[in-house]
Amino acid sequence: PPLYVITPTYRRPEQIPELIRMSHTLMLVENVHWLVIEDAKVPTKEVTKFLNRTGLRFQHLTAPMPAKYKQKKGVKPRGVSNRNRGLKWIRANATEGVFYFADDDNTYDLDLFTQIRRTKKVSMFPVGLCTKFGLSSPVVKDGKFSGFYDGWVAGRRFPVDMAGFAVSVKFLLQRPNATMPYRAGFEEDGFLRSLAPFEPREIELLGDNCTRILAWHTQTKKNEPSAALDMKLYRSTNLVELKQ
Ligand code: UGA
Ligand code: MN
Repeated sequence: PPLYVITPTYRRPEQIPELIRMSHTLMLVENVHWLVIEDAKVPTKEVTKFLNRTGLRFQHLTAPMPAKYKQKKGVKPRGVSNRNRGLKWIRANATEGVFYFADDDNTYDLDLFTQIRRTKKVSMFPVGLCTKFGLSSPVVKDGKFSGFYDGWVAGRRFPVDMAGFAVSVKFLLQRPNATMPYRAGFEEDGFLRSLAPFEPREIELLGDNCTRILAWHTQTKKNEPSAALDMKLYRSTNLVELKQ
């Protein structure tokens, strides 16, 4: 059965390089279907062109963040419209397998893709470089789930990172109302709660009983826009021309 990787992405100078890195990871994974979902009204030409070159099995979809959240100042619910669009696609097109929410800027251990395939309901595993604590992970005692460790608990029932869990498609299909809320910081918890009935003790522990980090919450430094986005935008002051 296929592995569905749901990747939210949006237009910025780092977009294509992030997608390049991610595609190179997925090229090493068998039977993977990449759902690339842009926070945009129309698909970006450069992204379409890029995806066609990868040779990967992919779906290029769009799902703009609703205006009322976009206009809000402060933290926005990033990637939520995209991920819900991915869930909608899975409900309409998939019958088996496993899906995973993979942000475009993270770093993924190849073992992650092997391990999450065996997910029956919801599996979880450690994520590195997460918050200033550097780690988000289920806590395992005597081989059994006993709680969570996360740098930001905030009363969440499932204090986990987006990159720290995978879900079986069949399990999702049995929960027609499962959805991700537009609530910054509470996207993971809201989505996992919406899978009810599902108890934390049912979590399938991966990464050798959560002793190994399988995903890293890497973040790319923001870059100046013009150069990466438009090759024709030379600044005359920085242009050295060949003399005759
Ligand atoms: C953290 C969490 O690790 C994310 O899983 C979570 O979605 C996010 O916070 C959040 O709740 O806002 P962080 O690195 O801070 O991640 O967020 P980004 O990587 O900037 O964005 C998460 C995903 O959404 C990325 O795949 C990004 O491409 C996408 N995104 C971001 C959009 O589609 N639209 C935006 O306006 C911003
Ligand atoms: Mn990120």
